[in-house]
Amino acid sequence: MKFSMRKFAMIPAGLLVGKASAATSGDFNVLSMNVAGLPAILQSNEVPGDKATNAGTIGSKFVEYGYDIIHVQEDFNYHAYIYATDDHAYRTATSGGVPFGSGLNSLANFDWVDFTRVKWDVCSDASSSDCLTPKGFTFMRTRIDDGVYVDCYNLHADAGTEAEDETARNSNLEQVASYIDTWSIGNAVLVFGDTNSRYTRVLDNITVFANQNGLTDPWVELIRDGVVPTVETLCDNPSNNTYCETVDKVFYRGSPVVNLEATYFNYESTKFLQADGNILSDHNPITVNFTWSSSSSLRQSNFLGGPHGTWFSDVPALASISKPKASVLTFSGANRLDSVGVKLTDGTTFTHGGTGGNVATLTLGSSEYWTSAKLCQGSYNDQTRNFYILATTSSGKTLSSGTATSDCATFTAPSGWQIVGFVGQDGDEMDQLAFVYAPQ
Ligand SMILES: *[C@@H]1O[C@H](CO)[C@@H](O)[C@H](O)[C@H]1NC(C)=O
Ligand SMILES: *[C@@H]1O[C@H](CO)[C@@H](O)[C@H](O)[C@H]1NC(C)=O
Ligand SMILES: *[C@@H]1O[C@H](CO)[C@@H](O)[C@H](O)[C@H]1NC(C)=O
Repeated sequence: MKFSMRKFAMIPAGLLVGKASAATSGDFNVLSMNVAGLPAILQSNEVPGDKATNAGTIGSKFVEYGYDIIHVQEDFNYHAYIYATDDHAYRTATSGGVPFGSGLNSLANFDWVDFTRVKWDVCSDASSSDCLTPKGFTFMRTRIDDGVYVDCYNLHADAGTEAEDETARNSNLEQVASYIDTWSIGNAVLVFGDTNSRYTRVLDNITVFANQNGLTDPWVELIRDGVVPTVETLCDNPSNNTYCETVDKVFYRGSPVVNLEATYFNYESTKFLQADGNILSDHNPITVNFTWSSSSSLRQSNFLGGPHGTWFSDVPALASISKPKASVLTFSGANRLDSVGVKLTDGTTFTHGGTGGNVATLTLGSSEYWTSAKLCQGSYNDQTRNFYILATTSSGKTLSSGTATSDCATFTAPSGWQIVGFVGQDGDEMDQLAFVYAPQ
């Protein structure tokens, strides 16, 4: 992982949390691997050797090649052996072996918020025991750098090619696509996992991610010249070429805040071999390298608050407004923060949260910008929520709402930028909040 153009501004010590000194470009890579971790007594996966030993080798390969974000599937009964040899700083806790877990886990060099496991609405036992375990997908909002987030989805869709399998898989993929439409509005997205689909299995509708969510498959983009295959090309394992198609796939999109570009696609099969040259899994692991860069028109802060409520984003609306600028701030709160709102000079108004609390407003002058915000969080009914906000403008005016706690962070727009909107999660109060920045 390399970063360029790091900028360190002079910032008062008290404001160091949530500072605006983030990198504005960099690169990272991802790996998706079905690790064939069903109990050996149920399924050999036609992989020679001892599954526990192989799992340990897989974990050590994760370290050796240093992938930044890894999604594993079928990580069931040999999970502990993978984690014993792997050393990624951020890893999901297993949801269990067969028949309790989903087999989905993530290992990353980056932290995340809002990790969620979702079970499929539909499964089929027509050609394999897909209903034996609660398969599905996972979601996490991964922080690549300060204020740079990518929503990462891992999945393991229904297997087989009987009619009921196709119906289940079509439903599974559509379920992820719908979730993206709700929970990733305005965000960069990465979907990578075992889709059990090929473009030639047209009933699956694997193109749903392109057609519904605007995602690109880097394998189609970089290896197949952008043309979706109509002829099946099966891969050997290990694969000696990238032209063939596997069911393990990556899809991505950038956002108005962060540009993403895929630069490299590969089957990593020959890196994942046993000492005697045998395979470690019945799937070819796939990797994609990405470069990212911050937009020159919109950026965002880190988040503060808890993983509750419903996702909202002012980013899509802001992306179509030329030179947005705050003219009136409206907050309401009492014991906690009930709502936040901003009216822009063009009349656009963004309001999030509920209707309770005492209303406070601040009108900004024509050359006055909203430049920083202090947020505090606290616990209510065992859930973390936003309790307090203090906005400060370029002329030093302030507006506050709610009740301060000892758990706060201050978010300051990069030099020459200003706060123009919000992203986060809300219900009848504010659960989680980050700020959207635009140039002054
Ligand atoms: C892909 O990314 C990894 C990790 O940053 C790097 O080591 C590798 O050289 C990259 N490969 C290519 C072909 O760019
Ligand atoms: C495939 O996905 C598209 C985009 O969401 C949808 O309009 C279409 O109905 C789906 N087709 C099938 C056969 O599921
Ligand atoms: C890959 O393996 C296949 C089957 O063994 C062989 O026909 C093909 O020539 C090989 N391709 C390359 C690029 O080595």
